[in-house]
Amino acid sequence: MRKILTADNSESFINEQVNESYHSFHGAVEEALKKYVIPCKIPALAKTGSVRILDVCFGLGYNSAMAVSAALEENPDCEIEVIGLEYDPEIIAKIQEVNPLLPFYPKYKKLTPTNLEFQEGKVKVKILLGDARETAKQLPEDYFDAVFFDPFSPKPAPEMWQVPLFKEMWRVMKKSAILSTYSCARMARDNMAEAGLLYDDGPILGRRGPGTIATKWEF
Ligand SMILES: C[S@@+](CC[C@H](N)C(=O)[O-])C[C@H]1O[C@@H](n2cnc3c(N)ncnc32)[C@H](O)[C@@H]1O
Repeated sequence: MRKILTADNSESFINEQVNESYHSFHGAVEEALKKYVIPCKIPALAKTGSVRILDVCFGLGYNSAMAVSAALEENPDCEIEVIGLEYDPEIIAKIQEVNPLLPFYPKYKKLTPTNLEFQEGKVKVKILLGDARETAKQLPEDYFDAVFFDPFSPKPAPEMWQVPLFKEMWRVMKKSAILSTYSCARMARDNMAEAGLLYDDGPILGRRGPGTIATKWEF
């Protein structure tokens, strides 16, 4: 893995096996905010007093660390639960090597390949280590308010954008939940629809095309 600096000065890595970066070159922290936290309405959820987030393909955890930071800014008393799905201990170890400007990120440094969970006040964070297509099956149904869906892109990682994993997302999402992802790939959207998710364009940020946001339309 090779470290890079993205356009907003936040660090990321290139995964040389898939020849893809872990974050947008246009800004890893900006991507977390604009592609995940805002479309999933995390500040509004924080006002309700509790937020449960599923961070699929947790990586360095930027997306959920941004969400926790934004939620606590909105409501410092909010109960927040983050479950991350990640299969690579090497990227979890790299959390120690990056310092994004996210108020809650220093707490994420408690996460290592051998310490996969922590609680800090009313914030609980836990990584399920393993293939997300399997670990997702352990999650309770009708549970999450927001799903951050951030695998490598459909070309090198088509297995992550198939109907069975989207069906698991559908199963664990509350009726009101929003799933957000950076990709607008046709295949991803068709498979979301087949899994019972209603998709729409998400925000545009740097990469070609918009992201995708999705909600449950079949209950
Ligand atoms: C685009 S990066 C995600 C970056 C991450 N959200 C962050 O903020 O750092 C994709 C991540 O998916 C993980 N991944 C790839 N295939 C996976 C699988 N089958 N199950 C779980 N994680 C997987 C990779 O190890 C990598 O960390």
